[in-house]
Amino acid sequence: MPSVFIKTYGCQMNERDSEAVAAQLVAKGYSLANSEAAADVVLLNTCSVRDFAEQKAINKMQNIVGAARNEKRDQIVGFLGCMAQSRGRELIDQLPDVDLVLGTQKFHRVGEYLDELLSGRRRKVVDVEAEAKSEAAIREHLLNGSAKTSVSAFVSIMQGCNQHCTFCIVPSTRGAERSRAIPDIVAECRELVARGVKEITLLGQIVTSYGRRADVWNAVASEARHRFSTDRDFLDDANKAPSPPRSAGAVQNGNTPFVQLLEAVHEIEGLERIRFTSPHPKGYGDDLVEAYARLPKLCESAHLPLQSGSDRILKAMHRGYTREKYLGIVAKLREARPRIGIYTDIIVGFPGETEDDFEQTLSLCREVEFDNAYIFKYSPRRDTPAAGMPDQVPQKVREERNHRLLDLVNEIAARKYDSFIGQPVQILVEGPSKKNAARYTGRTRCNRIVLFDGSQRHHGQIMDVKITRTGSFTLYGDPAIVNL
Ligand code: 5AD
Repeated sequence: MPSVFIKTYGCQMNERDSEAVAAQLVAKGYSLANSEAAADVVLLNTCSVRDFAEQKAINKMQNIVGAARNEKRDQIVGFLGCMAQSRGRELIDQLPDVDLVLGTQKFHRVGEYLDELLSGRRRKVVDVEAEAKSEAAIREHLLNGSAKTSVSAFVSIMQGCNQHCTFCIVPSTRGAERSRAIPDIVAECRELVARGVKEITLLGQIVTSYGRRADVWNAVASEARHRFSTDRDFLDDANKAPSPPRSAGAVQNGNTPFVQLLEAVHEIEGLERIRFTSPHPKGYGDDLVEAYARLPKLCESAHLPLQSGSDRILKAMHRGYTREKYLGIVAKLREARPRIGIYTDIIVGFPGETEDDFEQTLSLCREVEFDNAYIFKYSPRRDTPAAGMPDQVPQKVREERNHRLLDLVNEIAARKYDSFIGQPVQILVEGPSKKNAARYTGRTRCNRIVLFDGSQRHHGQIMDVKITRTGSFTLYGDPAIVNL
């Protein structure tokens, strides 16, 4: 049977999709190659969020096909995921050696398409069509044999996003929101726990909107959006799509469907920790904040993508909250869980961002003191409203703001890391450190990595360690001090 090498770009959803593709191919008898040069099939699972991510995958593919040609190797090569979805056949026009282009609703079909390509029945495959129920198509994503060693797993709960932030390509690469049913998700989580998983991260492009849309409404809205997606007015058109029927994702006892899901997953015996990503700040209503106080397995870590600290820019981004509302959410979360880790994403240089707007982002960062922040230079994406907005910020200014903000968030993050010294923390041990096999690595409940002198017997354990020192984005712990 052939061997396959899969390289993943982008978010955790992409990692999970790649795991699912690998599990699917291994189940068919494929082996996993250690490098692209040694593989019969090379798949790049791509990201479109910024141009940089797309260019990286395209350059990589150029290198792969160039090397294969030089060495006269016969390889099947393909693009999967977001860039495949947004560029489709155009990728083969640009790189004629590419055999396969599969969009975000087709991961479960990789095996059958590879069969056709490997047997010579087809020369090229491009499939970026929408496929109903694809959000629930792949459940199996732990590799056979590795399940025992995996203490942490991703579970996809929904696909797509209806928020239509004006900078974001995701609604066109991942489609409209489609959610899996609670019993289906819980059954998958139970199976994982039965195989030794102790921590589950619930995944989706906008998990806080989980279950809010009925399927039937989705289909109509997605079609409406699709038709007008090249039109600058598509936001207006999306608003013309029918409203969800009342039965869609009903709120029960004041709890949104997402909180209902958290409660259902929380009941699974043997599961120790629950995380989720990516949420939208709008989704942190009182029911979710209370869930943090009420559900002990829900880890005290919140990703709250800010994007900008300026109300004017937030409005132009179509984010749906103000600076004040955002600060209110942070305050409520900290009240519910004082040690909560708060992480964020920020875009610098969005069209029209003035020095004053940017300074509001700086001041918000000083006020909140994020545990960490991922900073992105604005990158215009095709068919997004922001790409056509006036007052695009020059690249040099984007770079300069990026540096200034990075300096600030790194300084705050380092201070926060140092405040852990001398503190006891609970970690879930994931395995040996990749860089130094003598050290073991675990993760705190607030999602920080801790290195300690451990051994195989610690694997998968929940244990207490005392933090003795810090490194760059790492804590060093000593289990002996706490567990005497
Ligand atoms: N340019 C720069 N950053 C972007 N992001 C999303 N779209 C863009 C874009 N066009 C960032 C946002 C998001 C993160 C995953 O990527 O901050 O939260």
